[in-house]
Amino acid sequence: MKSTFDLSKEEMKTYGYKIIDILVDHFDTLESKQPVHTASREKMDRIFLQEAPNKATSADEVLDFVMKNVMPYAALTSHPKSYSFVPGPSNYISTLADTLATGFNIFSGGWVGSPAAAELEIVTMNWLLKMFGFPVTKGGGIFTSGGSMANLTALVTARRVKCGDDFSKAVIYLSDQAHSSNIKAIRVLGFKKEQIRIIPTDLEFKISFNKLKNAIAKDKLEGNKPFCILASAGTTNTGTVDPLGAIADICEKENLWFHVDGAYGGAAILSKKGSALLKGIERADSLTVDPHKWFFQPYEIGCLLVKDSSWLSSTFSEKPEYLRDIEGNESEINFYDYGIQLTRRFRALKFYMSIKTYGLNAFKEAIAYNIDLAEETEDILRKSKEWEIVSPATLAVINFRYHPLGLELSEKELDALNQEISRRVVASKEALLVTTILQNQVVLRMCLINPKTSIEDVKETFLQCTTFAKEILSEWKK
Ligand SMILES: Cc1ncc(COP(=O)(O)O)c(C=O)c1O
Repeated sequence: MKSTFDLSKEEMKTYGYKIIDILVDHFDTLESKQPVHTASREKMDRIFLQEAPNKATSADEVLDFVMKNVMPYAALTSHPKSYSFVPGPSNYISTLADTLATGFNIFSGGWVGSPAAAELEIVTMNWLLKMFGFPVTKGGGIFTSGGSMANLTALVTARRVKCGDDFSKAVIYLSDQAHSSNIKAIRVLGFKKEQIRIIPTDLEFKISFNKLKNAIAKDKLEGNKPFCILASAGTTNTGTVDPLGAIADICEKENLWFHVDGAYGGAAILSKKGSALLKGIERADSLTVDPHKWFFQPYEIGCLLVKDSSWLSSTFSEKPEYLRDIEGNESEINFYDYGIQLTRRFRALKFYMSIKTYGLNAFKEAIAYNIDLAEETEDILRKSKEWEIVSPATLAVINFRYHPLGLELSEKELDALNQEISRRVVASKEALLVTTILQNQVVLRMCLINPKTSIEDVKETFLQCTTFAKEILSEWKK
């Protein structure tokens, strides 16, 4: 039987070129679009809710329907005015690399499945190991779907290496600014609440070192088994880097696993200012970096690096009889032995092709530009009588609030004002600028990791914010 899924060569070409034209147009016109596109569940149901259709529909018709109804309802996280969460700037080469990897449906699990895919993962992992000062021969790593999976993979490994099978008394330490994916990972691992120490942060949002040391000492006195400290290298809220060198010292002294979550901030190692801030990262046992953030890759690609690749293989290797024939020899890595997934998409390809095509210098320049852009943004805000910096530009993240000089407002009113500014900006669809909470204050947050964002974009958004602020204040007066 001729496969039901086959299209003629001409049909494939016509369909394929149509999609390429759409993509090229998207990249070409991105800046003239709006970043915010949202809809209610009710509206989405109205458009999409139906039973699985038994009958075929023409490919063109389905594509037209998707272009009309799917793509317009997604925030454009690569838009220059998409400032919130951690944006996804992406790039065109990697987009098409992903298409190639999917098109060939390359299995990136065992060596024999695709030696080239495994080799590219080894090679790109070596690039990353070198960037972060990890040993290239002994070290290793794996690409994951994102930072959450990289953190989970790290913590499984840390527990296996440090505790073996008995982790009933094991305790892990992280700050109240650590990313939520870490708490999720700890929960997935089955730790009880009593085994997790959330250490408060200081005024700069760094883990309180004294409190961390106290907690470890107290746990030891109580017969618990401290096994891991999780530090942030670029917290999501403020870009803060925990004191990595000092934490590495305690980990060494107390024989604890040192995991660094550098999901968004790690990439800053490629810049002079960033590498100074990230000093000590090279002493981690494991490190999460997320290429689909500040390495400008499209979703999904996260990465876990470890000092010793045997920690991964001793944690994740299983040797079922049905995989016997796709095993390589000792030096030929089966990435299914390094993590949770067996069948894996070929993530290394986009990382490889984009770095080869653009050159590492392009990445370095973009990251340095982003850090400078955030500093310039801070400068503008500091010189203004209307704005107050709540957390200064750090690794391209900055937090601030509208708080004009001489304006008598309570903290509650300031919170409401800044929340409403954000709501109106987002409702205008001109910029994606949402709030976070720092030290009980509602603040506006920008994560400026998109090289397409210009200082003019930022100024336009501030102008929009101040216009809304004045509108709100005059409405309040009435
Ligand atoms: C510091 C940090 N860690 C982990 C994550 C989770 O990464 P992902 O969303 O790729 O799973 C994020 C996401 O923003 C993050 O900022």
